[in-house]
Amino acid sequence: MNGKEMNNKGIVLITGGSGFIGTNLAHRAASSGRRVRLLDNLSRPGVENNLRWLQETHGDRVSIEVADVRDPLAVQRAAAGVETIFHFAAQVAVTTSLVDPAHDFDVNARGTFNVLEAARRQETPPAVIFTSTNKVYGGMEDVTLRRRGNRYEPADEILRARGFSESRRLDFHSPYGCSKGAADQYVLDCARSYGMRTAVFRMSCIYGPHQFGTEDQGWVAHFLIRALDGRPLTLYGDGMQVRDVLYVEDLVDAFLLAEKNIGSLAGQAFNMGGGPANTISLLELVDLIGTLHGRRPEVFFEDWRTGDQRYYVSDVSKFAAATGWSPRVNARQGVRKLYNWLLEFRGLAEAPSEASAMVGAQAS
Ligand SMILES: NC(=O)c1ccc[n+]([C@@H]2O[C@H](COP(=O)([O-])OP(=O)(O)OC[C@H]3O[C@@H](n4cnc5c(N)ncnc54)[C@H](O)[C@@H]3O)[C@@H](O)[C@H]2O)c1
Repeated sequence: MNGKEMNNKGIVLITGGSGFIGTNLAHRAASSGRRVRLLDNLSRPGVENNLRWLQETHGDRVSIEVADVRDPLAVQRAAAGVETIFHFAAQVAVTTSLVDPAHDFDVNARGTFNVLEAARRQETPPAVIFTSTNKVYGGMEDVTLRRRGNRYEPADEILRARGFSESRRLDFHSPYGCSKGAADQYVLDCARSYGMRTAVFRMSCIYGPHQFGTEDQGWVAHFLIRALDGRPLTLYGDGMQVRDVLYVEDLVDAFLLAEKNIGSLAGQAFNMGGGPANTISLLELVDLIGTLHGRRPEVFFEDWRTGDQRYYVSDVSKFAAATGWSPRVNARQGVRKLYNWLLEFRGLAEAPSEASAMVGAQAS
């Protein structure tokens, strides 16, 4: 979608808009001339850097309401008169949901309810696009897996080729899975019960610039940050678990397409990830970082974490068929881009491009 196409559009509200995904979407929308409102309580460490960057880059085209999605009045104020709400604000980690499930429930389930009510009560309810998670499909223990090199893969050929579709049975695991799953169902039901224009993205692993990954969430960025700090990594499980990774710019394309096509997409959930062409295991990422950074991070192993899927790859064909979308940045390119962004963020020089690195390697 080009900038001019978006110029005529109304205000966009992004809850959790100072976070990783919110910042990337806000930047794209504001760059196209659109006014962007953020609602964020700035609770995630590091996101204040994103907010500063957005405001320096876009001035008053980007405004912020520092508020909590648990506060219905603040959400109503922020949602007033907007064309679309991208609802991203969340308690984002399975691990922390296990420690404080009440907080997880309040933010993810009640917070989403507040957003939906703030939309529903308007004369013309804005479209609402919500970020759910692959965790709504549970641990998938019924899928027979086998080992290939440093990764798991399904024994079933069709599953290997396509990934998991939206017809997979819902099976909420962990407080995070339950709160996100409940929110996911409320968002979909608003289309059914009230005719609202709502849609759900059930997302796998997203990565890219402006991501302050930690051990609890955002593992691609977390691994790179540890490597840059020269610190070891802990892998929970055997490191052979596989995810389909999606570079955030590709996800932003998908959000804008979803908004544009919301009339026909309303009431539907879509699995979103890099798909079968962009899969990587934890150990494979460690190796890739080793080649990028010139030194493979040291790795320690701990027990499996609750609800961790050994293999999850999205079948993205439903969204692709509906909108023509497909991911453009492959895992190797994307990890390099994120590595370079992290270097730039830290004021360090970029890694040489893949081509020049190869020339260098041949010459030496
Ligand atoms: N990044 C991924 O791989 C991934 C995968 C699946 C789903 N998701 C979902 O996508 C959304 C965005 O994820 P992200 O990676 O950008 O996370 P993020 O943590 O970078 O962004 C979330 C933002 O929400 C804010 N926030 C948290 N609690 C809040 C509250 N109570 N009120 C207002 N703001 C609050 C945080 O300060 C943060 O800026 C989340 O809903 C997450 O669950 C992300």
